[in-house]
Amino acid sequence: MILTPDFADHAWRSLTCASLDDGVVRVAWGDGVEFVCHPLWLYEQTVGLEPLTREGTVEPGQLPQTAALLEATVDSDGALDLVWADHPRSRAHPGWLREVADGAHLPDAATGEPVAWTTASMPVLPTFDGSIVLDDERVLEEWLATLCTDGIGRLRGTPASDEFMAELAGRIGPIRGSNFGGVFTVESIVQPDSTANTGLALGQHTDLPTRETPPGFQFLHCVENSVSGGFSRMADGLAVVAELRDRHPDEYDSLTTDEWVFANRALDGDHRWIGPIIDLGGPRSPLTIRAFYPVRLAPHMPIDAQQRAYDAMRVFSAIAHDARFMVTSAFEPGDLVGFDNRRILHGRDAFDATAGTRRLRGCYIDRDDVHSRLRVLRRHGTGRGTSSASSESGIT
Ligand SMILES: [Fe+2]
Repeated sequence: MILTPDFADHAWRSLTCASLDDGVVRVAWGDGVEFVCHPLWLYEQTVGLEPLTREGTVEPGQLPQTAALLEATVDSDGALDLVWADHPRSRAHPGWLREVADGAHLPDAATGEPVAWTTASMPVLPTFDGSIVLDDERVLEEWLATLCTDGIGRLRGTPASDEFMAELAGRIGPIRGSNFGGVFTVESIVQPDSTANTGLALGQHTDLPTRETPPGFQFLHCVENSVSGGFSRMADGLAVVAELRDRHPDEYDSLTTDEWVFANRALDGDHRWIGPIIDLGGPRSPLTIRAFYPVRLAPHMPIDAQQRAYDAMRVFSAIAHDARFMVTSAFEPGDLVGFDNRRILHGRDAFDATAGTRRLRGCYIDRDDVHSRLRVLRRHGTGRGTSSASSESGIT
């Protein structure tokens, strides 16, 4: 057995050649793929591995000189065999090396690239069998994978109990608490602390723009719904942003550069942040849409930019509520919708809270933890393959 710096079961991919030339190690496989490694990286990931934690143990100041690597060859099993001066001989797993050569170790390798959607490409939410999600990891994996690519996915047929949200969250990762608590309840109440807890319509928005890092994913579980109205509306922020960029460049410029102060209005909390409505992020940070108007406090821009900022938000709102972009669904008891809170715009129709009960249980889980669970599920190969998402009518 050769230790690798992880807990994955790597397929064995025998090397066909290895050499030490000009201070670097060159390896190759039979299909022609080549990979160049620095000797000290190989030292850290072989000699320096701690077997229980699989973490590196060599502080950079304690690394040997690069010239300490004397020889790099392929052993009789096809592994990389490394001979060091004054250090134990070590071997590198050729399957693990191949994964690094292929980029399979990169953060987005398991989660996939986001795919923008409109109602033309996604007329109904991708839906999975919630009645078995706690028992069948393939369903969990496919649902989480869809959350990462489409930004949204629905479980239908889950138990309509107050406890189920927390139970399912426990299969994903730690709940990210907020001023709403851990698992929160969305229903019309007499003294609401948020417009969410009224029967008012909610325009398309993302939650908690008052935070430096708004929650990555939001989950809403319908426990009870006997009201008329209150339909859920979802739109893909990626598609909305693309529409603005391509057809409304002046408004796009305002929405991505003019900043606002956001602040929640709670008796026992006071979170604040400044940012544009559309924060495009960067190479290592995702798109973040800050579109919750109830907590947008004040413009943080010159007065002569404010009219164009309001004009731009009006266009943004029109697109986010356009039937080309917005999927509308009834929330049935047992439905549980997960969505990327920084990408997907969500809202709801008004409902008459005196003519029934509409009760949702929800929580946030950060992006890191959703991605981590998906990688672990895929590490063990429980269910890779084609998606089992059904059409809305395919799930009972
Ligand atoms: Fe919300």
